[in-house]
Amino acid sequence: MNLEELKHTATVLMAGERGLIAMDESLPTCNKRFEKVGIPQTEEYRRLYRQLIVTTPGLGEYISGAILFDETIYQSTDDKVLFVDVLKHQNIIPGIKVDEGTIDMPGSPEEKITNGLDGLDLRLNNYYGLGARFAKWRAVITIGKGLPTPANIKANAESLAKYARLCQDDDIVPIVEPEVLMDGDHTIERCYEVTQQAIKELFEQLNAHDVYLPGLILKPNMVIAGKDCTIQNSTDEVAAATVNCLLSVVPKEVAGVAFLSGGQSPQEATAHLQAMHAKFESKLPWPLTFSFSRALQQPTLELWKGKEENVKAAQDMLYFRASMDSAARAGQYSV
Ligand code: 13P
Repeated sequence: MNLEELKHTATVLMAGERGLIAMDESLPTCNKRFEKVGIPQTEEYRRLYRQLIVTTPGLGEYISGAILFDETIYQSTDDKVLFVDVLKHQNIIPGIKVDEGTIDMPGSPEEKITNGLDGLDLRLNNYYGLGARFAKWRAVITIGKGLPTPANIKANAESLAKYARLCQDDDIVPIVEPEVLMDGDHTIERCYEVTQQAIKELFEQLNAHDVYLPGLILKPNMVIAGKDCTIQNSTDEVAAATVNCLLSVVPKEVAGVAFLSGGQSPQEATAHLQAMHAKFESKLPWPLTFSFSRALQQPTLELWKGKEENVKAAQDMLYFRASMDSAARAGQYSV
């Protein structure tokens, strides 16, 4: 474990006014999003789409790291340049999703646990050789009647901590993502409570596994009411709840916090990040940025539609959304 390297990678990922793009959708998720906009669900179309993203001119002005999926880390452009090399050329650090998706939790099948610890050490070694310098593992926490159970929160925190430890042993910065889902009709207060519990348990487990916090990035959900809740809060309320929740449980030593978007629209996710910086900048002990998938990519995907003639417009849109998120991170976004 090289602490200097870990700290350096994490610091570069979180530095300046940039953020991360999650372009690591698994095959089923990517195919589902393609199907919705009428794009053929083949490996070649997935390659073309990821090529569109990584070759977007100037993307590195706003993006410090890109999270890839296993299939993507081996792929190349039409000119046979590996995507990993295109990213490096854009001054973007390549990262890799290493969890293998979720399964029902034994004994509590409405909840999920995440697969992927078996053989992870070997896979991490391989990914480092391919150029990945950080990784992501997503745990899913469901709010519902009697949910989440303490056992689910604990099981997910333990897996995240074991994964983080293995990453750091291989000089790969772990992004730990305990995602409290927006599905359901729960209030913002309930989301606050569950997010706080999940992150608190996570840092206890990270501590128990001796994980080096300056070489670790937390990827949380924002604290927000469920999609079906009748009370939807203002931008400032979401920003305040999110920052206060994180301040209560995230140690100041972590390299940074980078949000998932979780089903918010691009405009909502950007406005929430903006409000956090505009109102709370002086209180934040860690860099606070974005690591969005849908909120960055959805408008781009809808413009592209799998057609060569739309590539330029789709890239312009991705560049635009990344610039808006970067502005929000700097507290300078306005609608
Ligand atoms: P969303 O921004 O679409 O929530 O995705 C982020 C992510 O990386 C999920 O694992």
